[in-house]
Amino acid sequence: MSPDDRSAAAAAPPLNPLLTGGAEYPFVTLERRRRELAPAGVQPIDFSMGDPREETPGFIREALRDAIPVVSSYPAVAGQPALRTAFTGWFARRFGVGLDPDTQVLPANGTKEAVFLMAFAVVGRDEAARRTVVIPSPAYPVYEPAARFAGADVHLAPLRSGDGWRFVPERVPEEVWRRTALLWLNTPHNPTGSMLDRPALERVAALARRHGFWVVADEAYAELHFGAVPHSMLECGLENVVALHTLSKRSAMSGYRSGFIAGDPRLIAALRRFRPNVGVATPDFVQAAAIAAWNDDAHAAGQRAKYAAKRTLFLEFFARRGWRVEASEATFYLWLAAPGGDDVAFVERLLRIGLVVLPGSYLGETGAGFVRFALVPTLAGCHEAIARLEAAGAGVEP
Ligand SMILES: Cc1ncc(COP(=O)(O)O)c(C=O)c1O
Repeated sequence: MSPDDRSAAAAAPPLNPLLTGGAEYPFVTLERRRRELAPAGVQPIDFSMGDPREETPGFIREALRDAIPVVSSYPAVAGQPALRTAFTGWFARRFGVGLDPDTQVLPANGTKEAVFLMAFAVVGRDEAARRTVVIPSPAYPVYEPAARFAGADVHLAPLRSGDGWRFVPERVPEEVWRRTALLWLNTPHNPTGSMLDRPALERVAALARRHGFWVVADEAYAELHFGAVPHSMLECGLENVVALHTLSKRSAMSGYRSGFIAGDPRLIAALRRFRPNVGVATPDFVQAAAIAAWNDDAHAAGQRAKYAAKRTLFLEFFARRGWRVEASEATFYLWLAAPGGDDVAFVERLLRIGLVVLPGSYLGETGAGFVRFALVPTLAGCHEAIARLEAAGAGVEP
């Protein structure tokens, strides 16, 4: 072997350090612990990931089947006009806000992808540019890696139990806002189920316009409410704001990968320009299913009723056991103070009876001491989980 060959053999080809170092995606860690701790022969009941296991309504599945073409072409980046008007029609019914389907909306292959693209679209590269992404924490675990892949600086804004787990913009120093490119706002909030009222949204909108940063309001759970009805950030105007919406939760369509970005036409235009570099739109037959879903509200009410039943079941059980739930106003999540205070230890005790729940600390330091129950198993699965908890009695407490 010549010296040149030897050095070629020694040098591993490069990989982005974000893919080789750093933290594991929380669900990968949890799955490893599940394999280690869950008893053999007991079917795990999974409350960890926010992935609905309810049936997608039949009329939506039919719309997809009927749209499968003989000749399949690339879908246009902007999506079919009928998809955009189905979405803007729903938005007007739901929030009373009219959107221009040509300039103020863009379909996304699920909002997860939109979350990932956002920092790339707005964060500048040079030193003078605004490079900070503000993320209230604990948070949906995609905002932060997406910002880091885009080379942004991340400022985590801790949410607090004393604030009802609601984001309080005044707690972020002015100096941070001056260098902020993008604020992630998630209301109703994953993982705590808190939500911001209209005056709070107005305060955030005013701040963004004063300082000149973008707000991306992730409103994935806008249809899963059980008391007060969540507002959209776009009710406070479109300037400097886009909102994300998805069919994954509203219509039990997480496998279809269909969502929307809506709001300020300047950012929509930029994303439309960016998008062809990444891919194209959702397949046209999925768009046909999405049109059927956005055009119908009755099935979304049906989904909500299913989550309401599961929620009542768990809230009653937690109350009987004296376990404390915080926030949890909307979404299908319940934010439970871990009995004994250690969220990871509590989750491990639940894994031993075959229940999979997410430790709050996996979603950010400030989530420590809490666990997130995603009420996504069917009602029968939820009854079985309660039966296991009843049978374990004090065994799941420290
Ligand atoms: C807050 C939040 N945003 C976005 C998503 C992604 O949803 P989807 O990509 O299925 O539209 C999720 C999924 O759990 C979420 O919890």
